[in-house]
Amino acid sequence: MRAVRKLHRAGALLVGVFVLMHLANHLAALGGIAAHLRFMEAARVVYRQPLVEIILLLAVAAQAGSGLRLLAGKRRMDRIARLQAASGAYLALFLLIHVSAVLFGRAVLDLDTNVHFAAAGLQVWPYQLFFVPYYFLAVLALFTHLGCALARRAGTAALVVPVCAGVLVSSLVVAALMGKLLPYEVPQTYRNTYVQS
Ligand code: HEM
Repeated sequence: MRAVRKLHRAGALLVGVFVLMHLANHLAALGGIAAHLRFMEAARVVYRQPLVEIILLLAVAAQAGSGLRLLAGKRRMDRIARLQAASGAYLALFLLIHVSAVLFGRAVLDLDTNVHFAAAGLQVWPYQLFFVPYYFLAVLALFTHLGCALARRAGTAALVVPVCAGVLVSSLVVAALMGKLLPYEVPQTYRNTYVQS
């Protein structure tokens, strides 16, 4: 179990760098969708290199797998450990669906899986009923999961800042992609993945 814990901690660094950049990319939507697309084009130069992408996807799979293995090995858990386990389990499920959807969008639907691909689910009724909580909880779970690691060392109070930051970042990203902050309508090609015109 020690080796699994070491793998989970080491993987967190690699996956963390990508996820930080990924969320910064989504926050760029606060400056408009053109800013989001510009950020993505620059970031893709790095993370769309085949070798980098393979390493990233393997690291994501190892992160989710090692997290679930750690969870299965737990017997007694205090409140922080339970919150860390619940947020980690949600992240593992989210990553499975999220990454499969992106790869499916690219390989089968032949779409550029840019911001419009994600935002379509947030703008087409009734799919919002699923996608709003799905994305909101993913970002919140990420901040909570990392906050729990901090709280185990510094005490429960250390959870407040990460959880509040999670609620704020989640709300801003979801609202921006829904077009609630600046005018933004997902192009019809992407809406068509949900409704035929
Ligand atoms: C509101 C929240 C989120 C939205 C709207 C979103 C959207 C997207 C989009 C559009 C892509 C495709 C990128 C591309 O084709 O260049 C993507 C890829 C990805 N996302 Fe997210 N994401 C969100 C949150 C997260 C979180 C919280 C994580 C991890 C904890 C995550 C992990 C990933 C990974 C691993 C990929 C695959 C990268 C690749 O190989 O292309 N995402 N996401």
